[in-house]
Amino acid sequence: MDMIKGHQELVAALRKSGDVIEVTRQVDWNLEAGLIARHINETGDRSALLTNIKDYPGARMHASPLSNYRRMAVAMELDPDTPPKKIIDEYERRVRRPIKPTLVKDGPCKENIVKGDDINLLQFPAPMVHDGDGGRYLATWHVVVSRDLEQRDWVNWGMYRCMVHNEKYLGLLTLPGQDIGRQYLKYQAANEPMPVAICIGPDPCSAAASTSSPGAGVSEADIAGAIAQEPIELVKCETVDLEVPAYSEIVIEGHLLPNVRVVEGPFGEYTGYRTSPRDPRPVVKVSAITYRNNPIVPIANMGTPVDECDILFSITWGMDVRQAVSKLPVAAVHIPPEACGHAAVVAVHKIYEGIAEHVANAIWGSKLGYLMPFVIVVDDDVDPYNWNEIIHAMFTKLHPQRSLHARHCTPGHGLYPFLSTYERKWGIASNLLIDLTWPIDWDKNIDVPQKASVRGMYPRGLAEKVVAGWKEYGF
Ligand SMILES: Cc1cc2nc3c(=O)[nH]c(=O)nc-3n(C[C@H](O)[C@H](O)[C@H](O)COP(=O)(O)O)c2cc1C
Repeated sequence: MDMIKGHQELVAALRKSGDVIEVTRQVDWNLEAGLIARHINETGDRSALLTNIKDYPGARMHASPLSNYRRMAVAMELDPDTPPKKIIDEYERRVRRPIKPTLVKDGPCKENIVKGDDINLLQFPAPMVHDGDGGRYLATWHVVVSRDLEQRDWVNWGMYRCMVHNEKYLGLLTLPGQDIGRQYLKYQAANEPMPVAICIGPDPCSAAASTSSPGAGVSEADIAGAIAQEPIELVKCETVDLEVPAYSEIVIEGHLLPNVRVVEGPFGEYTGYRTSPRDPRPVVKVSAITYRNNPIVPIANMGTPVDECDILFSITWGMDVRQAVSKLPVAAVHIPPEACGHAAVVAVHKIYEGIAEHVANAIWGSKLGYLMPFVIVVDDDVDPYNWNEIIHAMFTKLHPQRSLHARHCTPGHGLYPFLSTYERKWGIASNLLIDLTWPIDWDKNIDVPQKASVRGMYPRGLAEKVVAGWKEYGF
């Protein structure tokens, strides 16, 4: 099967699988388009191709491109009904075999090229995504490409929000814990503008790869190729020394200025709240815009789960957590999308006491440590993909005195809603380990209560026979 080469091709694939609708009645870029995206996320509905945008005749937007597992499956060219665990396993299987991109001479993103005085970011219907956002966010589903100043062969891809300041300037969020933040600090120290290319609406595998965190020096372009199982085609930019996915809808080239700050934000965030303040933040001076004919502006509307962040974090952060605990006796790991990436649920083979601490320390000691304040550890008879089982364990095995292990003054994200304004400002957090495993010194036959379930309270052979022959009972 040919990979889905771009965003327009993703929409075509979603049309085929019945996962997108076309909205032809007029929709306002000011809040209405964002609201549609938000309602899709909160109801799990199909995505929406908006083809009649107020003030922008002929323009198109795509609300909620990948905010459920069905659309994620389509993006990976899997059956849309593939269960989440299978999608996650398949993603992980694919990224183990990175595939380098190929450089091509030309691509659809070069169908239109604008430079100099003609540059106008507002020629596109940048959405006002949430009421109260600091401005119009043109890039909510994209890849920001940037090259490290010292390690020149390290080209980072990441998804970092971009707000339009005016026709020729954009705000770009560069948090110091993120790779782009680390790169930017070096340019700033050298007082040099940092070349960037913001690729809005790339192929879905490039978008997904840009939200992963393989670490300094590892190319997300190779990861994108791995997910697509084909090399991603890249083309050279016009005004900066960078290469971008050739099928991107819109590519904004420019430089992140070293010492200029303009107020940016706030923005409704992936935690499901607006927690970041309106602050002076770095600015991109745009040097060129290239775009496909009749480009689609995608809107990923961050907020209460489930949105694109939650789906992708369950996949990519799940992978990172599995890596962090790979040497421990762990049965399964899940990052439930409903917890917006804040919690890892880890099922363990409890062969020694303190394993829950061991698991939590491994996670909090990894790069994800400052993004994941909650670790829930369960015994291996609990499926971390099944909230019913997790909640049952939570309210039956949790000992209020013994099972909760709080850590204070941990590194945390400025977006954690439960922190005070002061703690958010300085990223001073607290973490919590919820240990739902039975104590190791409890006798299995005397102290550990037997689970009254199909798996727990019937002879295994009989249980398997009854379940396997379920339809024969007439169910
Ligand atoms: C839809 C979406 C929007 C995101 N927006 C931001 C953002 O504005 N700022 C940010 O730092 N991370 C954002 N992220 C998360 C980063 O993409 C993610 O942490 C990624 O791993 C960063 O890459 P890095 O480790 O190379 O810095 C977003 C993720 C998604 C899926």
